[in-house]
Amino acid sequence: MLKNAASEDKDYNLLKSQIKTKLNFNCEYYKDSHFKRRIDVRLRATRSKSYKEYLDILKNDRDEYPMLLEALTVNVTNFFRNGEVYDVVGKEVIPSVIKSKDSSRMKNIKIWSAGCSIGVEAYSIAMLMQHLLGRNFKNYTINITGTDIDKASLLKAEKGVYTAAEVKDVKPAFLKKYFVKEGNEYHVIDELKKMTRFKSHDMISGPKMKGFDIIFCRNVTIYFEKDLQEMLYNAFYDGLNNDGFFIMGKTETLIGPAKDLFAPYNAKERIYSK
Ligand SMILES: C[S@@+](CC[C@H](N)C(=O)[O-])C[C@H]1O[C@@H](n2cnc3c(N)ncnc32)[C@H](O)[C@@H]1O
Repeated sequence: MLKNAASEDKDYNLLKSQIKTKLNFNCEYYKDSHFKRRIDVRLRATRSKSYKEYLDILKNDRDEYPMLLEALTVNVTNFFRNGEVYDVVGKEVIPSVIKSKDSSRMKNIKIWSAGCSIGVEAYSIAMLMQHLLGRNFKNYTINITGTDIDKASLLKAEKGVYTAAEVKDVKPAFLKKYFVKEGNEYHVIDELKKMTRFKSHDMISGPKMKGFDIIFCRNVTIYFEKDLQEMLYNAFYDGLNNDGFFIMGKTETLIGPAKDLFAPYNAKERIYSK
């Protein structure tokens, strides 16, 4: 029994090192409980009874690695996810950022959706910006950057084409104004696409990103070990301009030194200011 557990552990560690080298995925920073649950998804799908059997499949089936990556990166997302957060963002956060630009000649607003999945967070923000700026929109340069490690999600984000099920939480007036319906698909309009760009970036090992007025990193750090969470929250603090805002997921908690650096702006909605 003990021997079995030891060899399972050994195979699990071997699997982790394969994932690290073949997929360039920093498994050591993700919570083991999360990681095992996600790998189990592929074990079940391939009917593997052990990590060892699954390692054999990975060796022989070239298509399995992309499927594994898809399972490891949980891509669940929604337009205007947790609507109450967007209410505060629309009524208070964006107006405050717009106001802070009043005195500057260069009215650039930079926003980062870190861990953007298929892009719907970035496009939700883009819709709000357009809506709030109205006629003044042309006086501003808005850059919304969505980043993720999952290339398939980024491709979909770049295309900006969604199903009826995916746009179900977009309110009718926005759906009409910001999408073009083609058959059963909803295409994000070019004006929103011009404000957004998507790029591959690993927030664990990628280059530092700076100069943002708002950073959204929601429902991503929950999967990470505490030390890494602390490090990332510091990096987000450094990545913000003064008076900028950091917005995290509703089930996530700000911890570590960044907790004392940030001022809670709306703790219930997990919005913090620098
Ligand atoms: C559950 S989705 C959250 C999407 C969106 N932020 C939201 O709240 O709806 C988590 C995303 O984080 C991405 N992710 C996981 N680890 C990452 C990393 N190290 N760097 C960048 N993105 C990562 C996943 O690929 C996935 O698309």
